[in-house]
Amino acid sequence: MSGSVNGVYIIEFKDVTKVYPLPAGDVVALDKVSLGIRPGDFVAIMGPSGSGKSTLLNLMGFLDTPSSGDLFIRGRNVRGMTDEELTALRRDHIGFIFQQFNLIPLLTALENVQYPLNLKTGKRNNSDRSREVLKAMDLGESLHTHKPSELSGGQQQRVAIARALVNNPEILLADEPTGNLDTRTGTAIMELLEDLNHREGKTIIMVTHDPGIARYAHKTIRLVDGRISEIEEATEEA
Ligand SMILES: Nc1ncnc2c1ncn2[C@@H]1O[C@H](COP(=O)(O)OP(=O)(O)OP(=O)(O)O)[C@@H](O)[C@H]1O
Ligand SMILES: [Mg+2]
Repeated sequence: MSGSVNGVYIIEFKDVTKVYPLPAGDVVALDKVSLGIRPGDFVAIMGPSGSGKSTLLNLMGFLDTPSSGDLFIRGRNVRGMTDEELTALRRDHIGFIFQQFNLIPLLTALENVQYPLNLKTGKRNNSDRSREVLKAMDLGESLHTHKPSELSGGQQQRVAIARALVNNPEILLADEPTGNLDTRTGTAIMELLEDLNHREGKTIIMVTHDPGIARYAHKTIRLVDGRISEIEEATEEA
């Protein structure tokens, strides 16, 4: 796919609203949110519990669809796309990283990383690419045969990042990627993400509660009650 319509945004939201209909009444999780993410941006999304952060991230990753408003990826309106098209968009452009790592328990580290690659190509590929991304995440061969339960939290998250990277997406979406890690391990994970942003130009959008973690981003979007309350651009540092 070539550049977007206006050549600026890789992801754009226009008046995006997400309502969850519940028996007790509708929950407005996002209320007319408009924003633009540029290629190479590193954005933190902050805000109180229930303010809509995960909802926003899930919409960015096409895990969910807006109730109203428009969502664009590289200038293409997502509205009206079929499930197959959305699945392909997600698979080819987006890598997800979750707080709970979400690795498949029965598969080894290597098999977990291999999985999205096989899904993408519809065949069992050789594992060179998976080994390469595991290596880039500092996970040596001896750990490749470990199941998730046989890895530390930090190692599991590095496997999960390798899995997110295996199809070489331009966008990484991370929901509390360090939420289950101690400070030291969390810092190591953030340094990996920072490196992916700096060196490979990956666009990263990350939800976090932790101001220390948000400092790795160049921009912070604050949500309150499903609305953007503030967008803060970091001043040059480091
Ligand atoms: N599947 C769902 N069905 C109904 N309501 C939902 C659903 N998912 C989220 N909500 C509601 O939408 C609002 C926003 O939820 P969301 O998960 O986006 O918040 P969050 O900012 O990620 O919170 P946290 O920091 O606790 O993870 C909340 O009021 C939540 O209860
Ligand atoms: Mg959340």
